[in-house]
Amino acid sequence: MSRRILIIGGGVIGLSIARELRLRGGHDVRVIESGTVGREASWAAAGMLAPNAEADEIDSFYRLCSESNSLFPSFAEELCDETGIDIGLDRTGTLELAFDDKRERALRAKRQQQSAASIEVGVLSPAEIGAIEPAVSANVRMGLEYPNDGQVENRKLVDALVRSARRTGVEIIENRSASDVLIESGRAVGVMSDRGRVESDAVVLATGSWTSYIKIGGVKSSLNVKPIRGQMLSVQGPPGLVKHVIYGAGAYLVPRSDGRILVGATVEDVGFEKEVNPVAIESLRQAAIRTVPAIRELEILESWCGLRPFAADGGPILGPINGIENLVAATAHYRNGILLSPITAKLVTEYLLSGVGSEYFQIFSADRFKTANAVAGDKQ
Ligand code: GLY
Repeated sequence: MSRRILIIGGGVIGLSIARELRLRGGHDVRVIESGTVGREASWAAAGMLAPNAEADEIDSFYRLCSESNSLFPSFAEELCDETGIDIGLDRTGTLELAFDDKRERALRAKRQQQSAASIEVGVLSPAEIGAIEPAVSANVRMGLEYPNDGQVENRKLVDALVRSARRTGVEIIENRSASDVLIESGRAVGVMSDRGRVESDAVVLATGSWTSYIKIGGVKSSLNVKPIRGQMLSVQGPPGLVKHVIYGAGAYLVPRSDGRILVGATVEDVGFEKEVNPVAIESLRQAAIRTVPAIRELEILESWCGLRPFAADGGPILGPINGIENLVAATAHYRNGILLSPITAKLVTEYLLSGVGSEYFQIFSADRFKTANAVAGDKQ
């Protein structure tokens, strides 16, 4: 359908779309990024692939996340062939552990609900947890096991996507801010940037937390996406101290193959504030120690934060915007930007190259919020 495609936003979503477009025959693909590509939420993430651990039911969101999860083995293999970078796809699985009565009851209820919905989840006794994760605290009461969840090294994913996109001929323009999508005769014709106009035949908004700042045809956009800060830290442990991704006693732990353990994360509605707060970091560290006591002895390597792009219901915004067929949203991936990168790239690419929109574009259209607002307004 389109020849010159301009993607605003160089996180994993924008980069995955750019790469996929070039691989599937898209012509002139450009990414413009206001800073350095891949250095916002994509860099700050933990790389968890957790469609099952974070699901309550089998709904469209679960299906989207699961489809994307199943694309990861080929995505990782292709990226490695294209770039030599191994993105560290790890399918050891995810554990969710209870350390008190209340949490145990909640996890047992969750398991019942998930099993009824045919989500694959197992129950582990303390002895079984001790056998597969000997470093977990002896205070553990029980756990859930999600064998189909896992993780990737998100910073390696960024590096692989940048290298692949460049090799396939994507033009990456950094330190250029887009402010307005230019609309003529009901079609997107490019964007206005801080260094002038950039023409294109289609525009993709992969702008994450900054989506609401991009005007459309000179008018403030109705896409409401706001940042939700997540603070994290990492410690250096011996490789293998922890093997699974673990949702523990007030924090999650993501063990990397080199022994680092990432600990996260806060969920804070504080605007674009990107300070790391030592009190929050210490509280995460204490939660990690309650889960795996040996973490007390480990040195903190790094602490950081990132901004998750959140729309009102926590789901992504995908597909044409305001009925403008060559203006496509790929944003608001909130807690699942890494997980949803291959499926988002696939759906947006199919649409831009063939004109055929996925059923997910209806479900995750920005218009769903207009309907919700209208209903809320009717009730007032
Ligand atoms: N995906 C984990 C988080 O957003 O903290």
